[in-house]
Amino acid sequence: MHFTVEAQNFAKPHLTAGAIAVDATCGNGFDTLFLAEQVGSSGLVYGVDIQSRAIETVRAKLLEAGTLQQCRLVVGSHSQLNAMIEQEHAGAVSVVMFNLGYLPLGDKTIVTKPETTLAGLDQAFEMLRPGGFLSVLAYPGHRGGQEESQCVADWVARHADVIRSERFQDPGNRNSPVLWALIKVVGAGV
Ligand SMILES: C[S@@+](CC[C@H](N)C(=O)[O-])C[C@H]1O[C@@H](n2cnc3c(N)ncnc32)[C@H](O)[C@@H]1O
Repeated sequence: MHFTVEAQNFAKPHLTAGAIAVDATCGNGFDTLFLAEQVGSSGLVYGVDIQSRAIETVRAKLLEAGTLQQCRLVVGSHSQLNAMIEQEHAGAVSVVMFNLGYLPLGDKTIVTKPETTLAGLDQAFEMLRPGGFLSVLAYPGHRGGQEESQCVADWVARHADVIRSERFQDPGNRNSPVLWALIKVVGAGV
């Protein structure tokens, strides 16, 4: 399974022209670009990464693709997501994507952490519209990754009454990435 492609495939049906989406871990910008293409020039994508270097890479990628104008890029932690989106967009976001871990070929010490990931997931859930989609791709194979994956699994379990969830992992490989495809149940409170 190609997990990053699968995350996008699951997100796609939830994205229409004019939609609002969030990439909570921009990295090299593959998900940001995907989201920007789906929502089009009438939509809006918030792209967040803790590394300014990553955000500059993403900015260049979007500019080249002609999709920068529908994106707002923010250097900061997704644990502060609420402060990054406009109030009028709270509860109206169609898709939020988290791709955890570190930047491939980048500084492996700058890595997502359980506390900030959980804070980000709480806020992502709140900003989703009913029926909205949240993907979380976690990597148990790196140092601290197993603990972070377990925290995400526990978070999903705690939200079982308000989230419809599917979990994917290569069978027989405990270090395989884990993808959660999550849908906020219509009628769910926050
Ligand atoms: C696996 S990469 C994301 C890959 C990206 N989705 C792509 O398409 O290239 C994980 C990213 O999370 C970022 N990151 C780590 N901690 C973060 C935090 N607290 N808030 C936002 N981004 C964070 C890292 O800087 C890194 O770029």
